[in-house]
Amino acid sequence: MRISIFGLGYVGCVSAACFAKNGHTVIGVDVNADKREILAAGRSPVIEKDLDVLIAEGVAGGRLRTAASAADAIAGSDVSLVCVGTPSRPNASLDLGFVARVCEEIGAALRSKSDAHVVCVRSTMLPGSTEDVVVPALTRGFGGILPARVEMAVNPEFLREGSAVADFFQPPKTVVGASSAKTAATIVSLYDGIQAPVFATSLRVAETVKYVDNVFHATKITFANEIGTVCKSAGVDSHEVMRIFAADTKLNISPAYLKPGFAFGGSCLPKDVRALVYYGRAHDLNLPLLSSLLPSNDVQIDRAAEIIFAQGKKRLGFLGLSFKPGTDDLRESPLVRLIEICIGKGYDIRIYDRSVSVARLMGANKVYIEKEIPHVSRLLANDLADVVAFADVLVVGHRSREFAEAARDAAAGKKTVVDLARVFDTPPDDPNYLGFNW
Ligand SMILES: NC(=O)c1ccc[n+]([C@@H]2O[C@H](COP(=O)([O-])OP(=O)(O)OC[C@H]3O[C@@H](n4cnc5c(N)ncnc54)[C@H](O)[C@@H]3O)[C@@H](O)[C@H]2O)c1
Repeated sequence: MRISIFGLGYVGCVSAACFAKNGHTVIGVDVNADKREILAAGRSPVIEKDLDVLIAEGVAGGRLRTAASAADAIAGSDVSLVCVGTPSRPNASLDLGFVARVCEEIGAALRSKSDAHVVCVRSTMLPGSTEDVVVPALTRGFGGILPARVEMAVNPEFLREGSAVADFFQPPKTVVGASSAKTAATIVSLYDGIQAPVFATSLRVAETVKYVDNVFHATKITFANEIGTVCKSAGVDSHEVMRIFAADTKLNISPAYLKPGFAFGGSCLPKDVRALVYYGRAHDLNLPLLSSLLPSNDVQIDRAAEIIFAQGKKRLGFLGLSFKPGTDDLRESPLVRLIEICIGKGYDIRIYDRSVSVARLMGANKVYIEKEIPHVSRLLANDLADVVAFADVLVVGHRSREFAEAARDAAAGKKTVVDLARVFDTPPDDPNYLGFNW
């Protein structure tokens, strides 16, 4: 494939050299003439292991050259990869000025081209940036609506400086967001021969994945460092702790607990987070991340309440009461908290939770239910259909097939469904259905 690369920084240079190594023809463009000259001379404008050798090979083999103008680069390529910087502004917002400028230049150059062309952004941009910034800038440069032969893609870069070349050839994944399946296939084909799972998705998902990755990495480092702070204070070897922690690939280093949904609760998580944060306070340890967990969890409960209030309807049916499905344990259940907030606001409420109803009759939780939450337990109904029939707004708190069927029927019957549990694998496209964190 013939590729033009705009921006010869770390991402652009590594992409240029590695795509050339894989047999593509690459033209590099940068506003910085020094960078162009260094690359054209077969050397690397950035310090990165193994990059000099690959650039020298690419230039000597005639597969890698530079261009001073966008027009030259666009004329000689089928795909343009945008790799310019996307720095922070002083107020912390994302500065897409370089992206906009380079896209205006690409748009202007596309005027003189009648063949199909894909503009693919590798720079890190917030969700919606392709639609809100890239396409308008291309359109401005083009001087009118873009023709159908110009297609968009987003292909985030996951390299790490210092091991960028090795990361390019052994990436954790290849993510391609595209405006059509054909364009996705074009970008995916650039990576032929590279062994990695490929995810072809929408432009917005591809843009978002890159942020989620980096924010998660930052969260992991911060988490490990705060655990280190606690361990150091307690005279515990933090590396031994984290070695054992990370060896658990069932619950810890795994997809477990990574599905957006409702607040956590139960007899362990809130209590144990609280105890560790208190330990930190008692020992004058500053633990901002760990200290933020319970307040952040409360925010989710408040958000759910606001969504319910916003419906302006008075009769609420809750499906699920315990802190998770399949248990009658009500200790620190976020659903109990949410229902208490709604009771306080004067809502008319019915609740269905089979495990809790059974426990109320005969289970170990009978005393807890009658003594601690009589105001909630008196709202329990024994029949799911009664709760659905009663409700104007059905709040799904647990994920189960029976609740999915009830929610589908309720939405079809013009009742509002607030789904806190992602009860459907594919949420219905129905205005009566409100997904909580999706
Ligand atoms: N550096 C990394 O490890 C890394 C990893 C993944 C993603 N990213 C993302 O990739 C993007 C690029 O990062 P980088 O570190 O390579 O940036 P960089 O600052 O090293 O390089 C950007 C280059 O773009 C050039 N440029 C600016 N305007 C231009 C224009 N109009 N035409 C041509 N060239 C122009 C600059 O002169 C510069 O050489 C950023 O969005 C970054 O967040 C970076």
